[in-house]
Amino acid sequence: MRNELKGLVLSGGAGTRLRPITHTSAKQLVPVANKPVLFYGLEALRDAGVTDIGIIVGDTQAEIEAAVGDGSRLGVRVTYIRQDAPLGLAHAVLTAADFLGDSPFVMYLGDNLLRDGIRGLADEFRAGDADAMILLQRVPNPSSYGVAELEDGRVVRLQEKPPEPRTDLALVGVYMFTASILDSARAIRPSARGELEITDAIQHLIDSGLRVDPHVVTGWWKDTGKLEDMLEANRLVLDVIEPRMEGELVGSTIEGRVVIEKGARVVDSAIRGPAVIGADAVIENAYIGPYTAVSDRVVIRRAEVEHSIFLEDSRIEDLDARVESSLVGRNVVIARSTAKPRAYRFMVGDSSAIGLI
Ligand code: DAU
Repeated sequence: MRNELKGLVLSGGAGTRLRPITHTSAKQLVPVANKPVLFYGLEALRDAGVTDIGIIVGDTQAEIEAAVGDGSRLGVRVTYIRQDAPLGLAHAVLTAADFLGDSPFVMYLGDNLLRDGIRGLADEFRAGDADAMILLQRVPNPSSYGVAELEDGRVVRLQEKPPEPRTDLALVGVYMFTASILDSARAIRPSARGELEITDAIQHLIDSGLRVDPHVVTGWWKDTGKLEDMLEANRLVLDVIEPRMEGELVGSTIEGRVVIEKGARVVDSAIRGPAVIGADAVIENAYIGPYTAVSDRVVIRRAEVEHSIFLEDSRIEDLDARVESSLVGRNVVIARSTAKPRAYRFMVGDSSAIGLI
């Protein structure tokens, strides 16, 4: 049996594919069913018995620290590790060298979500003698991920986002390592995109004759770095949410799995779950359709929305057509204006996307 596993959660990086949301906030804090995606990873580690966790942070350190604190609320103990620039996943491992010492560890990418958690996998790694274990899943678009090739049940080759993938086995963002990965991360050079790639470090382990075991994950897995994946993760989590009613309901109908948090008011509206309505939200003369997550203090009046995520303090009012498949940031106002001349008036951040009909 190995020493206790530590956890290394990667929550630095830039998050270019979720702009403009990530211009102002960390992509790992975008909520899935009203809970930051990062929390699911921390809870998965805790449930696997991994409670001594280093979190790699970058420019969004203050925001991550404000949300996670010392970790005690989530049942873990957190050490923050500053990475000055997002120079790659293997660079993040090297940045954490002091924290890791010679302990084996689970590396968990802070924007990944796995339905079945990692308890069984962590136990398998603890009990075995592999030098590393990687998690894999078959995907239709392998060129967007690290891709693995297997031979006789062992990993023989890894490539980071190859234009012409040789298999459809994508690397899931959870890895189990022994301290030997540190030597490999020191031995490799930056890739063409200028990052120290963890795939190259793992390839170096293999080329040095060490054993890397694959494990194909069967439950769903989502990398929430892109809008469609974020909405899909939201859908998958809402699908199994436990209904709960703590808010106030006036002249409204609720169907299906719906959570309504404390202080929320639902007036003359219809909510068709699965959906979640955050604390102190106001829903009035509105329709909230399936797969919608409404964060705290959001106001939706005289509008219809579905299959969307609304972040805190936003206001949606007086819309003629239904809003769907949308991710709306914090403090956003989408409302009708009576000002003359009659025109669209926008105050929209960089890299936003607006679909009009
Ligand atoms: O999600 C699985 C994929 O994750 C794997 O299939 C790939 O092999 C792996 O390289 C990674 O690809 P991504 O392009 O999705 O990685 P991303 O840049 O989004 O970074 C993943 C997480 O790690 C994210 O939460 C940000 C954080 N990060 C990233 C870098 C490059 C850091 O904390 N520091 C870094 O230097």
